[in-house]
Amino acid sequence: MTDLAQLEADLSAQIAAAADAAALDAVRVAALGKSGSVSELLKTLGALSPDERRERGPLVNGLRDRIGAALATRKTALEAAELDARLAAERVDLSLPAPPERRGRVHPTMQTMDEMIAIFAEMGFSLAEGPDIEDDFHNFTALNFPPKHPAREMHDTFWLPEDENGERKVLRTHTSPVQVRVMQTLNRQLPAWIANGQKPPIRIMVPGRTYRSDSDATHTPMFHQMEGLVIGEDIHMGHLKWTMETFVSRFFETPGVEVRFRPHHFPFTEPSAEMDVRCDRSGGEIRVGQGDDWLEVVGAGMVHPNVLRNCGLDPDKWQGFAFGFGIDRLGALKYGMPDLRDMFAGDRRWIEHYGFSAFQAPNAATALS
Ligand code: PHE
Repeated sequence: MTDLAQLEADLSAQIAAAADAAALDAVRVAALGKSGSVSELLKTLGALSPDERRERGPLVNGLRDRIGAALATRKTALEAAELDARLAAERVDLSLPAPPERRGRVHPTMQTMDEMIAIFAEMGFSLAEGPDIEDDFHNFTALNFPPKHPAREMHDTFWLPEDENGERKVLRTHTSPVQVRVMQTLNRQLPAWIANGQKPPIRIMVPGRTYRSDSDATHTPMFHQMEGLVIGEDIHMGHLKWTMETFVSRFFETPGVEVRFRPHHFPFTEPSAEMDVRCDRSGGEIRVGQGDDWLEVVGAGMVHPNVLRNCGLDPDKWQGFAFGFGIDRLGALKYGMPDLRDMFAGDRRWIEHYGFSAFQAPNAATALS
């Protein structure tokens, strides 16, 4: 065997025997490195005569190329084997529990709103909505607030700056403007309904945000109301009272909730009333159905004839009742939160304590049970 053939056989054996990347690299350096065995052979070519070089040159260069190729092939094979070994060793155990994660909570206001919607939906009310930024007509004028009357300030209204038409919009002070929007729509649709032999009645609920410049333990500048409106041909105060009492007993899921109606004044209802729920606020916590305190939860009344007229309905033919609940207050009463301001303070400890799991979302069945 020639010296070259011997060297190639040795190197090939070493390449085949290299068990990992480091061993293989040592072989590479020993053969092709600066003073490696093959590199040394290449250096000797310069000293040969042209004839000798023509014969030996291709042999040595060929040896270098084959060793280089063998090293590359072995390297690829070693890397593949290493990856296979890792894949085999680092198996994922899908039966392990997932790492613990913080879960979001449902805000009590949203929970309360969903509970209310479930109960009123059972009673045949459907959902309606309106804009948070209202015009003076829908928030006040159509609801029978006289022009320039101090009643417009009664609500501690947030007025927006005058727009390019000289109009001042408001952040709606209540959800009652949606009554107007719904009655106007009814009025537009009435001829078609009557032609079809259909009769209204309207039964809508309007959950939404409302705004007043007011802040203490039972008032926040942004809060939520649930408006209700029923319009028909023979609706009376008894329907209103039954609806309120039935709702409250279902909402609090206890027969012992005591309510009282007080005469009140709203420009858009006549007669008007407020309903309070008996509660105890003495111990830093709020408890419903006991104690000597009353918390007002709803304003209500029979829709004022002027409001019906403003919406294009004939008050001699149509009557109805309306109500507006404070959603946050009802939630505070049911779930024992003493200060409404905490509800919107954005404190995570509060929401973790009072918030609900997403799996507790109510439906009509649980709300009525
Ligand atoms: N809009 C009234 C308020 O915010 C509540 C209300 C609604 C009263 C409907 C009567 C009828 O105080």
